[in-house]
Amino acid sequence: MLMYRETEDHLALSRLFKNSGLDVKVTAEIPDGVLKMWRCIDDETGELLGGSVLQQKDGRYILKDLAVKDGYRREGIGKALMKKALEEAESLGAEEIWGCAKVPEYYTAKGWSIVPDEDAPVISDCQQCEQYLSVCFPRIIRKQL
Ligand SMILES: CC(C)(COP(=O)(O)OP(=O)(O)OC[C@H]1O[C@@H](n2cnc3c(N)ncnc32)[C@H](O)[C@@H]1OP(=O)(O)O)[C@@H](O)C(=O)NCCC(=O)NCCS
Repeated sequence: MLMYRETEDHLALSRLFKNSGLDVKVTAEIPDGVLKMWRCIDDETGELLGGSVLQQKDGRYILKDLAVKDGYRREGIGKALMKKALEEAESLGAEEIWGCAKVPEYYTAKGWSIVPDEDAPVISDCQQCEQYLSVCFPRIIRKQL
């Protein structure tokens, strides 16, 4: 059975994010502004299958990272982990949530909008990377809650 729980284990989550192709530093140290992190595990094997991270930065709520382990995708795990972060942001009074998406079409299918580059606030380390908009083209996204 799948279990969705809050976690403080950033090391395990960051390894999963990195292995899923996200630009994150693998570290046990919880990044600044992180409010909560969730993981999905298989309760029989203890295997970590996915994770999500909610961050607050400059007054904005941000879905900082979301990934599901290869081999377990398209089974609804990503959707459930995103829901955790959206519900938490909403419960904290957020009216909108932001993200930096490598697969924007995944998010737009779930009601997020793509913010034009010229209107995009700096919400992610991704935007300060030298590859941003030269060889790597993530989009800044936003969802009304
Ligand atoms: C993106 C990701 C988190 C989605 O997680 P997931 O568990 O596979 O997604 P879900 O099963 O909840 O997906 C549900 C829906 O999204 C669609 N979907 C999944 N991955 C998609 C993708 N890469 N592009 C477009 N749509 C996608 C599915 O078809 C499904 O549609 P449906 O609800 O109409 O049936 C996962 O594919 C992943 O970890 N990718 C690598 C890391 C990454 O790119 N993370 C996002 C960085 S911004």
